[in-house]
Amino acid sequence: MNMEVEIAGIKLSNPVMNASGTFGQAEYASYTDITAPGAVVAKSVTLEPRLGNPPPRIAETSCGAMNSVGIQNGGVRNFVDDKLPAMRAAGVPIIASIAGTSAEEYGEVAAILEEAEGIAAYEVNISCPNIEAGGKAFGVYAGETRRVTRIVKDAATRPVIVKLSPNVTDITEIAAAAADGGADALTIANTYLGLAVDLDTGRPVLGNVLGGLSGPAIKPITQRLVYEVRHVMDIPIIASGGIANYKDALEYLMIGANAVQAGLANLSRPDVMAEMIVGIQNFMEQRHIEDINEFIGSLRD
Ligand SMILES: Cc1cc2nc3c(=O)[nH]c(=O)nc-3n(C[C@H](O)[C@H](O)[C@H](O)COP(=O)(O)O)c2cc1C
Repeated sequence: MNMEVEIAGIKLSNPVMNASGTFGQAEYASYTDITAPGAVVAKSVTLEPRLGNPPPRIAETSCGAMNSVGIQNGGVRNFVDDKLPAMRAAGVPIIASIAGTSAEEYGEVAAILEEAEGIAAYEVNISCPNIEAGGKAFGVYAGETRRVTRIVKDAATRPVIVKLSPNVTDITEIAAAAADGGADALTIANTYLGLAVDLDTGRPVLGNVLGGLSGPAIKPITQRLVYEVRHVMDIPIIASGGIANYKDALEYLMIGANAVQAGLANLSRPDVMAEMIVGIQNFMEQRHIEDINEFIGSLRD
């Protein structure tokens, strides 16, 4: 049986990886076998360290969670010097995640990462607020998506995966802009902008007021986004949205995603990816699927 998939020229032993920000950097090695996933995606990093948003920064909702971490990170140099060596030791392809509050910052982060060894690809998190343009996320505008993608692509020799925001009117327009900017693959998608209210305190639940919804609640919506992009584009797609077990993963693969990311599920079950890989294997055996690539995109619609 073959579970190997290829995304933008990177060979992955299986199509399961973590979503950025839900698996630490290398810290998860003390909770689970980090050599199991096809790739490990690092937490997004910015040029300078960031403390993130005021607490509370994460809160459960009825079918998922809201978060507003605000890209807390030690900065790209801290990532390269302190986090990357331990991640590299796992021997799994590493995808570094780039964030920024100006388009130029994305390029500067990419240039520093270029100097580091052992990174397989970059994922560009365009859900960050664009400070020069009033704080709306880069990824909600096609023009900014194209611009940020192009800047990273110009700085990078490694494949560039652009992680789209789902908070848009037409995802296909933004996906096309990313491809036009030079994206080698897309991750679909980040969290959905939301608001949670505490009736007792009369205040928003999160310190930042607004946050991003993730978990099982968002799966059908993100599946729709993957479906829409897959229908109009041939680009490799990595799915992210409510993937918490092997069935969720298989559904996305069936729709046409080439790989999947487990996000929120890692917070309560650090071994969820290993379980998903076994589940996919068993499914393939039962259905006599010899190559996972035959299954990808097999949805009959
Ligand atoms: C606590 C938390 C932190 C996150 N941090 C990042 C991040 O740093 N960069 C990023 O691109 N996405 C980040 N995300 C979004 C996830 O990577 C993922 O795309 C999203 O949660 C949807 O997947 P899920 O429903 O499986 O959680 C974060 C999500 C959570 C819950």
